[in-house]
Amino acid sequence: MATDSTHTLSQYMEFASANIHAALDQWTQPQAGCPTVLEEAMRYVLLAPSKLLRPLLVFMASDACGQRSSATLANACAVEMIHTYSLIHDDLPAMDDDLLRRGQATCHVKFGEANAILAGDALLALAFQVVSSSETSAEIRAASCQALATAAGPCQLVGGQVDDLAAEHQAGDLDLLRQIHHRKTGAMFRVSLRLGAIAAAANNEQIAHLDAYGKLLGLAFQVVDDLLDCEGDQQQLGKQTGKDSEHGKLTYPSLMGIAASREYAEELIQQAQAELTVFGESASWLRQLAKIVLSRTN
Ligand code: IPE
Ligand code: IPE
Ligand code: MG
Ligand code: MG
Ligand code: MG
Repeated sequence: MATDSTHTLSQYMEFASANIHAALDQWTQPQAGCPTVLEEAMRYVLLAPSKLLRPLLVFMASDACGQRSSATLANACAVEMIHTYSLIHDDLPAMDDDLLRRGQATCHVKFGEANAILAGDALLALAFQVVSSSETSAEIRAASCQALATAAGPCQLVGGQVDDLAAEHQAGDLDLLRQIHHRKTGAMFRVSLRLGAIAAAANNEQIAHLDAYGKLLGLAFQVVDDLLDCEGDQQQLGKQTGKDSEHGKLTYPSLMGIAASREYAEELIQQAQAELTVFGESASWLRQLAKIVLSRTN
């Protein structure tokens, strides 16, 4: 959908989300060899009502770079599958031990711990099947796989999760916290933008600005997530609140306090928006989305 005055951001998001949801539904249809319980556990979390923020960023990055390709939708689905796997595992008793996700019982509560672990494993692998089978050039598929594997891997998402858990009930400073948030959350935001750019055959300058925007947006998003854990409404959020302090997590509110954390998130969003100047009007959706990250209540 073009950036023009005839469409609002919510119309754009509604249209793109329906497109993404339908594709995720297609990718997880019953298949020979896939046990019913596994298919159900995957779909239970993947298709539950959610913001679909990362796949929307893939769409918006392609749009900012001037075109979508069939890799745009494939990359968007893949990033959501990896994000969903990371949530299923994040909620496990051995990790954050949560009971509520996306407004319903967590995957392990509903399907048992072993099936939840395996549903996460299956979504992680499926993501790479999706990226590598998009109807586009071998270069775009290879670059997308490489970017996604790096972001989801040991030095980014998984490494950030390990350090998040290791920091529980420990003394830590802002530097360590920033490193954790950049990896456990920021990496998937950054790669969403990169995947949209790769799908649009963007140039290096465009990729660099989107990457900087993604890094700032991802950090702001997690600062707000930390704030919502303190101040948010469980019903609206669809996940438990007050869990970070219960687990002694290193968070922005715990280190900076609520008001300074909110100001910091605002600052990050302003800096993120400044990275979009080179794109002009074509980045209007990304510019508007940054504001939503700040004002969100779920
Ligand atoms: C939750 O992500 C996990 C974090 C990185 C804080 P979202 O808040 O984007 O969750 P969904 O995808 O909308 O459920
Ligand atoms: C989750 O961070 C990050 C990943 C899932 C990789 P949190 O643990 O803060 O996310 P929520 O609050 O459970 O959604
Ligand atoms: Mg966690
Ligand atoms: Mg958690
Ligand atoms: Mg959280």
